[in-house]
Amino acid sequence: MRTTPRSTTQDTEAAPRARWRRLAARSRSGEDPSLRAAYRACRLTTRQHDPGMYALVQLMPPALRPAGWALWAAANVLDDLADQDGAEPAERAARVEAWTKALRRDVAAGSGSDPVRRALVDTALRWGLDLSGLYGAMAGTRDDVRGRRFADWAEWRAWCDEGVVPWVDQVGHLFERAGAPMAPRFDRRGDYEHFISGAQLTDTLTDLGSDLAQGLLLLPREALDAWPGAEDDLRRGRWSPAAAALVGATTDLARTWVARPGLTRGMHPGAANLLDTAARLLRAQLDAVDAAGASLLDRTPRPSLAARARILAPARVRARLAWSLTPRAVPAPRRPAADASGPRPAVAADTVLRPPPPHSGGARPPRIAADRMPRHVAIVMDGNGRWAQQRGLPRSEGHRAGSVAAHEMVYGALEIGLRHLTLYAFSTENWKRDTGEITAILEGVRRDLDAGRIRDLDVRQRWSGRPGRLPEELVQAFAHEERRTRARTGLTLTVCLDYGGRDEITRAAAALARAAQAGDVVPDLVDEEVFARHLPHPDMPDVDLLWRTGGEQRTSNFLPWQATYAELYFTPGPWPDVDRRDLWQAVAEYGRRRRRHGAAVPLASPRKPPTAPSAPL
Ligand code: IPE
Ligand code: IPE
Ligand code: MG
Repeated sequence: MRTTPRSTTQDTEAAPRARWRRLAARSRSGEDPSLRAAYRACRLTTRQHDPGMYALVQLMPPALRPAGWALWAAANVLDDLADQDGAEPAERAARVEAWTKALRRDVAAGSGSDPVRRALVDTALRWGLDLSGLYGAMAGTRDDVRGRRFADWAEWRAWCDEGVVPWVDQVGHLFERAGAPMAPRFDRRGDYEHFISGAQLTDTLTDLGSDLAQGLLLLPREALDAWPGAEDDLRRGRWSPAAAALVGATTDLARTWVARPGLTRGMHPGAANLLDTAARLLRAQLDAVDAAGASLLDRTPRPSLAARARILAPARVRARLAWSLTPRAVPAPRRPAADASGPRPAVAADTVLRPPPPHSGGARPPRIAADRMPRHVAIVMDGNGRWAQQRGLPRSEGHRAGSVAAHEMVYGALEIGLRHLTLYAFSTENWKRDTGEITAILEGVRRDLDAGRIRDLDVRQRWSGRPGRLPEELVQAFAHEERRTRARTGLTLTVCLDYGGRDEITRAAAALARAAQAGDVVPDLVDEEVFARHLPHPDMPDVDLLWRTGGEQRTSNFLPWQATYAELYFTPGPWPDVDRRDLWQAVAEYGRRRRRHGAAVPLASPRKPPTAPSAPL
C-alpha cells in the first residue's frame, strides 16, 4: 500500500499520552539497546519507504506503533529484495527466499539476526502474532519477480488476497490483541478484501510510470482488452485517448473498491478512524492520479500538502481521543512457541508436517485410481445421540466419541490423498437442542482445536457457518487455525459449525446485492459463476460424494448449493462407530457410481472395476 502521500507527520502527543509513550518505549525495548535500535531502524525504513503507511501507523495507539513499523518495514524489505534493479530475476527470487528462510529460523529461535527480523520476531512474541500466516505472501513475492500476468480482475484480486491481505491481517491481529478489534465482521470480510484490493490498485496506478519504465503493466488482460490500443500506447509512453480511458476506468474501479461504507461498523473507534483515514488518503491519491493526466507516465502523482493535512490533522485528533479510552501498554516478550506453555502457541514455530498416525488395527489405505477419486467428500456425522443412548450414556458422551471418528476421517482422507473434506458438526437448526447438549458440542469442538491432534498434519483448516451466534472465542480459535494453516496444500478441511445451507445462500445473495449496489456487479450478467463467487467459501469445489451415517436419508440443510450433483451415500451405523476404513469404503462405492450430470447414458465401455486395496478394508 505505498499509495498514500509523503507525510509531514511527527509524533505530537500531548501530556497524558507522554506517560504511555514512555512506558511503551521502556517495555518494548526491555532496556535492550540493540532491540531499541532494531525498532528505530524499522521506523526509519517505514518512514522513508512508505510515508503514507507511516502516517497511518502514527494513528495507532503508541503501544502498537513499534509493531506497525516492524511489520511494514519487513514488507518493504521484501518488496525491495524482489524489485532490486540490476539483479537477475532468479537472483532476486533467491534473496526473497533466503530472507524468508532466515525469518523462519529466527521465529523458531525467538530472536533475529538482522534488525528488521529482530523487531518482527520480538513483535510476534510480545503480541502473540503467528507469522506463519505471512509465509504464503512471502512465497508470492518471491514468485512475482518473474513477472505476473492476470487474465481478469478475479485473478488480480486473488493475487492481492494472497500477497497483501495476510500483512493487513497481522495488523488486525495486533489490534485484537490490544483489545481494540479492527477485524471486520465475518459478513464484511468481502468488503475488507475489496478495500485492500482497492489500496493495491491505487498503488498500481500511482506507480504506473515507474512500473512501465521497468516493462511492467500490472493490470489484467480483461481491462487492457476493453481499451484496444491502450496497452501498446502505454508501453510506448504515449498518453493516447485509449490509454487515458483505461486509466480513468481503472481509477473509478479503485474508487468503488476503497469506498466500503459499512466496513468499520462495530469496530473500536480508534481502529475505525485508522481505516477511514486510510480510505480518505486513498481517495485523495486517486484524485491526484486523475489530475496527473499525461504526467502520470513521467512522475509519481501525490496529493497536495494541504489536501493531506486536511485529512491527517483531524484524524490525529480523533486518534488521540479514541485511544485515550483504551490505554494499552506493550506486553513483555514471551518465549518462542516451542517452549511456550498453554494450548495454543503464541508464534507457530516452523512446523514440520507429519504423516497421519496409522490405523490402530494396521489397515492400509487402498490405492484409488485418479479418475475414481472424488475431489470433495462431505459428511453428515449423524447418530452420536443414539449411540450414547443405546449405551445408557448421556448424549454428550456420543459427541465426545464422535470427535474421535472425525479425526479418523481426516487421517483416512490424508492417506488416500483426498483434497477436500467437509464435516457437518452443528447445524443452524441444532440450536433447538437443550443448552447442556449445545454446550457439550461446542466445548468439544473447542477442546479438539486446542488439543491440536491435526495441527502438524498437512491440513488447511477452516470454518464455515453463520457469523454472530457462536461464542466469539471459538470463532477466534478457528480464525487462528485458518491463518496458521492457510499455506498448506494437502487436505482442505472445512468444519461446518452453526452452518445452514439456506443461510449460506441467503448471505451470498446479500453479498451479491451489496456488490451490485457498489457497481461491482451488473445484475443482468449474474450467472451461476458470479453467484458462486459471493459464497462465503467461493473456492469450495462441488461435492462429489455426500455421506450420511446414522440411518437417516436426508441432507438436513447441508451444502445445498455445492451438493446438487453429489452422489448420495447413506450408511446405517451411528457416527461414533465409523473409522477411516468406512471412508475408504464410501470412496470405493463412489468409484462404482456412474455420474452423468444430465448427459445421456453412454452406450459402450463400462468402467473397469476399482483398483483393489493394498490391504483388506
Ligand atoms: C449428530 O448426532 C451430531 C449433531 C447433530 C451435533 P446427533 O446428535 O444428531 O445424533 P442422533 O441423530 O440424535 O442420534
Ligand atoms: C444434521 O443432523 C446436522 C449434523 C450432523 C450436524 P441432525 O441430527 O441435526 O439432523 P436431523 O434433525 O435428523 O435432520
Ligand atoms: Mg441426528
